[in-house]
Amino acid sequence: MKLFIDSANVEHIKEMNDLGILSGVTTNPTLMAKEGKDVNQTLVQIADMVDGPISGEVISTDADGMVEEGKKIAKLHPNMIVKIPMTEAGIKATKALTELGIKTNVTLVFSLSQALLACTAGATFISPFVGRLDDIGTDGIALIEDIRDMIDTFGFDSEIISASIRHAEHIQASIKAGAHIATVPYAVLKKAFKHPLTDNGLDAFLNDYKKVYGA
Ligand code: G3P
Repeated sequence: MKLFIDSANVEHIKEMNDLGILSGVTTNPTLMAKEGKDVNQTLVQIADMVDGPISGEVISTDADGMVEEGKKIAKLHPNMIVKIPMTEAGIKATKALTELGIKTNVTLVFSLSQALLACTAGATFISPFVGRLDDIGTDGIALIEDIRDMIDTFGFDSEIISASIRHAEHIQASIKAGAHIATVPYAVLKKAFKHPLTDNGLDAFLNDYKKVYGA
């Protein structure tokens, strides 16, 4: 499973990219608004930095508007992916952009039937929101498993981006459930590096060494 960062914060993206762990980036209108910078400039900055798919989301709600916006997003950089909401208009736009050879990421996916519609429209990526499903007492990871089974059974080309990741356990569960990618917020990525036994073990190694060899 590949790791993307779910962020529009250029400093955070750079920090994680410099560690060599990123295969792509996802943004959304909320993440963009949090930074408050020029949206297109931010997307280009990110795409110039990270070598992989970079999702920029449309804000139109009608299919024609989404397609027009999508064409502009795609022109920003060869690695741009057009992120489209899972609505009737979104599916129509996904189909149209796919026919134009533009890659898409259908977002706000919360059910297997929505995933089927997105795969049928030719979505390059589909983004089920694991954390938000967990929030309403539904098993978000079970949806990832079901979508992966469907993709394998019927031979769809779409890749699953496990999204709305809230903690490291979601990353681990996404791997086991068969997600192709997990898009992970900066704070969760930072925590994923840590384990108390790693810290304790390293302290012990260095102390033992110093006792014999000095500092
Ligand atoms: O980018 C979409 C998704 O990852 C949002 O996550 O935490 O707002 O549910 P969250």
